[in-house]
Amino acid sequence: MPALFSPLSLRSLTLRNRVGVSPMCQYSSDHGFATDWHFVHLGAFATGGAGLVLTEAAPVTPAGRISPQDLGIWDDAHIPTLRRLTDFCRAQGAVVGIQLAHAGRKASMRRPWKHSGGTVPLSEGGWDNVMAPSARPLASNHPSPDELSLDGIAHVVASFRATATMAAYSRTAFASPSKSPTACARCGRRSFRSSCASPLRIGSRAAGALKSRCSWPHGYMPAAST
Ligand SMILES: Cc1cc2nc3c(=O)[nH]c(=O)nc-3n(C[C@H](O)[C@H](O)[C@H](O)COP(=O)(O)O)c2cc1C
Repeated sequence: MPALFSPLSLRSLTLRNRVGVSPMCQYSSDHGFATDWHFVHLGAFATGGAGLVLTEAAPVTPAGRISPQDLGIWDDAHIPTLRRLTDFCRAQGAVVGIQLAHAGRKASMRRPWKHSGGTVPLSEGGWDNVMAPSARPLASNHPSPDELSLDGIAHVVASFRATATMAAYSRTAFASPSKSPTACARCGRRSFRSSCASPLRIGSRAAGALKSRCSWPHGYMPAAST
């Protein structure tokens, strides 16, 4: 049997095979809630036999959404719809994970197929409290984000911690709430976490040597697994 189809054990978790579905933003949520779209999209991978199904990037705060239609996990109210989805996928034998995220300077953008550059206006559900580790804008047609203080960065880290527990209750984490819930955290290009580590993207208040800058993104790991 090819290794691809043999089980893979990761600590206490065993995947039925080594086929894992990468996180893929769908921009199809309603105020952060998973919709029928997610049920069909992710459910189909589970019925198709994937060992691991990851949700798209799910922001840990409303201001951390890429678009108004992002999947979210900042409110307990998001848990039941996620739970329905994961219960279905797990019943098909798949393990479901969630990708916790914060868009940082990439926040408040239009869905790609509604692309016209720049940010989404308030009248279309956008928000103006875009925040990032520095005031450097995403591009020339984007506003400068609010540069977070160290306390502000720590607050975002705390949001990852809070949502890791919600992820466990929605069974989108890799373990049950009674164990250590572990979710993956997004470090995509120009998103909040990678900005913390980049000398070009972090402000003077949090800048420092590489080790110091990396302490912020690395700080998410224990935050999201305690
Ligand atoms: C439609 C689409 C949406 C994506 N959304 C995310 C995302 O939410 N988070 C992320 O980390 N990567 C995202 N990616 C990147 C993929 O997860 C993956 O890393 C990338 O496609 C490379 O993997 P591949 O070589 O298997 O295609 C997305 C990719 C696609 C095509």
